[in-house]
Amino acid sequence: MSEHINARRDRAAKAWLTEHIVLVGSGSPIPVPGGMDQLHHFEPHPDHYWLTGHRTAGAVLAYDAREGWRDFTPDLTEDDRVWEGVTERAGEPISGLDAWLEARQDRAKCVLGTGGGPLAGVRTDRTADEAYAERLLHARRPKDQCEVEILKRACDATAKGFARAREFAQVGVTEREIEIELQAECFRHGGERMGYHNIVGGGTNAAVLHFSPSARKVQQNEFVLIDAGCQVEGYTADVSRTFVVGTPTTQHTELHGIVKEALEFGTSQCIPGKEWRQLHLECALMMTKGLVSLGILKGDPQGLVERDVHALFFPHGLGHLLGLGVRDASGYLPGRERSDRFGLANLRMDLPLESGYFTTVEPGLYFIDPLLSDPKRRERFANDVNWDEVDRWIGIGGVRLEDDILVTDDGPVNLTKDIPLTI
Ligand code: GLY
Ligand code: MN
Ligand code: MN
Repeated sequence: MSEHINARRDRAAKAWLTEHIVLVGSGSPIPVPGGMDQLHHFEPHPDHYWLTGHRTAGAVLAYDAREGWRDFTPDLTEDDRVWEGVTERAGEPISGLDAWLEARQDRAKCVLGTGGGPLAGVRTDRTADEAYAERLLHARRPKDQCEVEILKRACDATAKGFARAREFAQVGVTEREIEIELQAECFRHGGERMGYHNIVGGGTNAAVLHFSPSARKVQQNEFVLIDAGCQVEGYTADVSRTFVVGTPTTQHTELHGIVKEALEFGTSQCIPGKEWRQLHLECALMMTKGLVSLGILKGDPQGLVERDVHALFFPHGLGHLLGLGVRDASGYLPGRERSDRFGLANLRMDLPLESGYFTTVEPGLYFIDPLLSDPKRRERFANDVNWDEVDRWIGIGGVRLEDDILVTDDGPVNLTKDIPLTI
């Protein structure tokens, strides 16, 4: 067992301090429907992977505070050897799990990770499951040195992909062709998969938050927004850049400048103790001041943010933690509820940053037609928004700029700073 896995198990055990038997399932692969004889790509549950360091489907890590850890993995079958070429497996055969549980039948249990499969018959108390899962999630938030090294590799490979995409993005190439170049270059530099669906949008497509690259060709003097990150050993980067192919107009430069300023301020504030919700609102205020200076919004910026007017143009949260997956270990501290305010409902986390956290900072401003053309909304915000001015901007698309920041006691460390922010 490697040192860092032992250290993580100690961290989890300290967080639980439990008499419960804890069972952490890795999950099972999902068959592609229709008798294809294929399985979807398998990602182990992050809780299981973090505590075992292996990516085995159908596995269960078991913990008994009186005796320690047992790593059960599926018995190796002839089919595994013949069809998949598997020759050995970490852990011990899962055929021993039933007897292990039987010997502890009078003890309370909780199931974390992915339940079902080998854990289908285990009875637990859902409240305890949730409490233990929450404590493990919190214990996983600060990244250890081994994780930071892997994240650096994911960010570096992603930087190579962005460099290639930027060089390749010319008038007449399609969004899909940009995606292909970006992804191939990430893979050439150690990326194993992409961490989520690539986003590449030109022109008004830049205003679709999760736009899937299409066959649309990039045109002269328009924004291209790329949001992508590759994955290494299960850890992913998550980066956005927006630039103009051709010559930026004053509108392009102004919008990009406001978002860039918010990104730089947001990044500088990624320090231990900083409340994420507060930082989100500070960046929202900054961008609101920018929209007022452009004549798009009217009135006192603080009041506009309090009434959620900024969210018409910045409808998502400032960022999220990432690591084992693109939203890994984000969330709300116990007792904090998701707000139903238009301007706060999409916050993916509500917690204070701590040393070792790895977070995105991703301010954006967009001219999203379905949000801005709605007559009811236009009426409701008639005193706050200069709708004639909005109509002059609506075709521009949008800007998102996103970096990946490690929070440390010595200040923020931007692992994606080498990806140029130039327009
Ligand atoms: N692309 C997903 C995100 O930025 O969160
Ligand atoms: Mn992103
Ligand atoms: Mn993100």
